[in-house]
Amino acid sequence: MEKEHNHWFEYWVNTKNPPIYKNPPSEAYGGTNYEPLASIGMSCFTDAVRDDFKENFSIIDYGCGAGILSNFISERLDNFKYFGLEPSTGWGPGRIETGKRYFNDERVKFGFVEDYNEIIKNNKIDTVILISVFTHLVIEDCLKILDNLKNIFDYNKDASIVFSCFSSDTPRVSGLQSYINSNYYGDSYIKLSDLQNYTDVHNLTLTKHMDFIAMGGWKHEIFKITKV
Ligand SMILES: C[S@@+](CC[C@H](N)C(=O)[O-])C[C@H]1O[C@@H](n2cnc3c(N)ncnc32)[C@H](O)[C@@H]1O
Repeated sequence: MEKEHNHWFEYWVNTKNPPIYKNPPSEAYGGTNYEPLASIGMSCFTDAVRDDFKENFSIIDYGCGAGILSNFISERLDNFKYFGLEPSTGWGPGRIETGKRYFNDERVKFGFVEDYNEIIKNNKIDTVILISVFTHLVIEDCLKILDNLKNIFDYNKDASIVFSCFSSDTPRVSGLQSYINSNYYGDSYIKLSDLQNYTDVHNLTLTKHMDFIAMGGWKHEIFKITKV
């Protein structure tokens, strides 16, 4: 697996617009990633899609929480389409309602993960990003999600799927968070060879983009999946 050169710092420092919502409070963030670590993290993700991260960028933020990524994008681009999706169960609907309150903008839409296939059919989507989602799911659930997400390549063969995970040779999880949904753990370490096997079998390419250390010392490993 080759490692890409990265320029996340440029994305972090180069803003040109005021955000949709100035200084959003912690309820608009996901997990423990508050400023400035959240925007460093989001810079690392957008760096993974730098060829597409320009005017008219279109993105699905899968497991968007309250959609803080839309605020980050609005500071850097004028024209973009953002779809933030959450599960329709557990705390998903509440997260989306919070997102709609803060990031109320015509370029930003919220919905449920069940809307995914309609969205990719009706919009040319450049990338699907999952920030801190697979870091909470066991590999079987990550692969079920990827089975659906990879439909994007039927509509845009140049699209990408970008996600973070925690890796370990010995998969392990801590604390089931049943208020989010029944399969969501406090943290989950998956085996990278399982991801690699999956992409090999489906004729997809898995690339390691970079690591970033989030609050609490969590090492997020950012990966990108593209079509061969
Ligand atoms: C740590 S939060 C990150 C939120 C957001 N990406 C951010 O960085 O602010 C993880 C999110 O994944 C969502 N989630 C949990 N299970 C999911 C699933 N099976 N599919 C999609 N999203 C899921 C949760 O509801 C939660 O909002």
